[in-house]
Amino acid sequence: PEFSTFCLPFSLVYYSLVTLAVQNAALSIVMHYSRVSTPPSLAYSPASAVLLNELLKGSISFVIALSRTRELADIPWRRMSLWEIICSLPYPWTAPFWTLCGEIFSPDCWKLSIPAILYVIQNSLQFVAISNLPVASFQVTYQMKILTTAAFSVALLRKKLSSTKWLSLFFLAIGVGIVQIQTSSVSAPKNQSVGSAHDSAPLHIHVMSPLKGFGAVTAACFTSGLAGVYFEMVLKNSKADLWVRNVQLSLFSLIPAFLPILYTSTPTSPGFLSGLLRNFGMWAWATVAIQVFGGLVTAIVIKYSDNILKGFATSLSIVLSFLASVILFDFRITPSFVIGASTVLCSTWMYNQPPGKEPLSIVLTSAN
Ligand code: C5P
Repeated sequence: PEFSTFCLPFSLVYYSLVTLAVQNAALSIVMHYSRVSTPPSLAYSPASAVLLNELLKGSISFVIALSRTRELADIPWRRMSLWEIICSLPYPWTAPFWTLCGEIFSPDCWKLSIPAILYVIQNSLQFVAISNLPVASFQVTYQMKILTTAAFSVALLRKKLSSTKWLSLFFLAIGVGIVQIQTSSVSAPKNQSVGSAHDSAPLHIHVMSPLKGFGAVTAACFTSGLAGVYFEMVLKNSKADLWVRNVQLSLFSLIPAFLPILYTSTPTSPGFLSGLLRNFGMWAWATVAIQVFGGLVTAIVIKYSDNILKGFATSLSIVLSFLASVILFDFRITPSFVIGASTVLCSTWMYNQPPGKEPLSIVLTSAN
């Protein structure tokens, strides 16, 4: 539905958007730390992380979808004793299970293959970008996905954006640009990770290639915009359940996620599984967990809201990650950061004004 999230402060979507902003900020920081805090010889494989992300997300979505099947809801659980529930478990699970499998492998499931491939590429590019850029630069540049998302929404979903909405997008880009300028002037030396001078944990010297990082982040902005809008198109043009769509998305993602792994080793070779999880320490698992959680929340936001609004919510994460950088990495807040972040916040407010109450339309009406 066409929606004004910020008018529904206690709705699920409102919480999802705030959660997504926090999740985005946490992901950049944890993912960056997980990549730069170990020497390259002890680094975990990003391909394994992408695969694990899809496996976990798909499994969680499957369980949620299963719990929502009608057969399972029709069972009078409340009137049954615990013993009856245990005794009847083998049967009630099988019927909903097969119903769900039928829904997952429906004739139109192939539609999810396109966003699935794009998301795997995006998730892999994210690792390249975050390993080669300071957290702040990555975060801010990644916000350009809002513009690609708006462009794809107009092109594919035939969304009409009012002049106020375009103007707020323009201001958003300017705000991001201003923050970007401050980032490059105060960020860490090019060949060191951000925070290494201040962080109490010993970070290893990690050679970063900003050009590679910016190239990866730019490509990720395009795949993010296209994948998100395509997923929204599939979701809103059919009645299939969100969680079934999510399982389909993860299933199709498994193929491209497996390819780079198969390139280096074969599943039948001894030690394949332990090789997959080699060097997976606490930070690597935390990265995967935050990604899985973010994927699930993203799906909810796309379903009940839209991609453009999701972009605005995640742009708030810039402010959160900078605040975290101040606390964790002794980052300095400069006037240009305050101006840039305020521009982002104002444009977010402007974008979310309900039709008729938009600042620009008020100006135009009073002029008439
Ligand atoms: O940056 P962006 O918001 O485009 O990132 C979306 C993230 O959410 C990707 O990592 C993607 O894998 C994930 N996602 C998901 N399930 C969906 C939609 C997105 O896991 N249905």
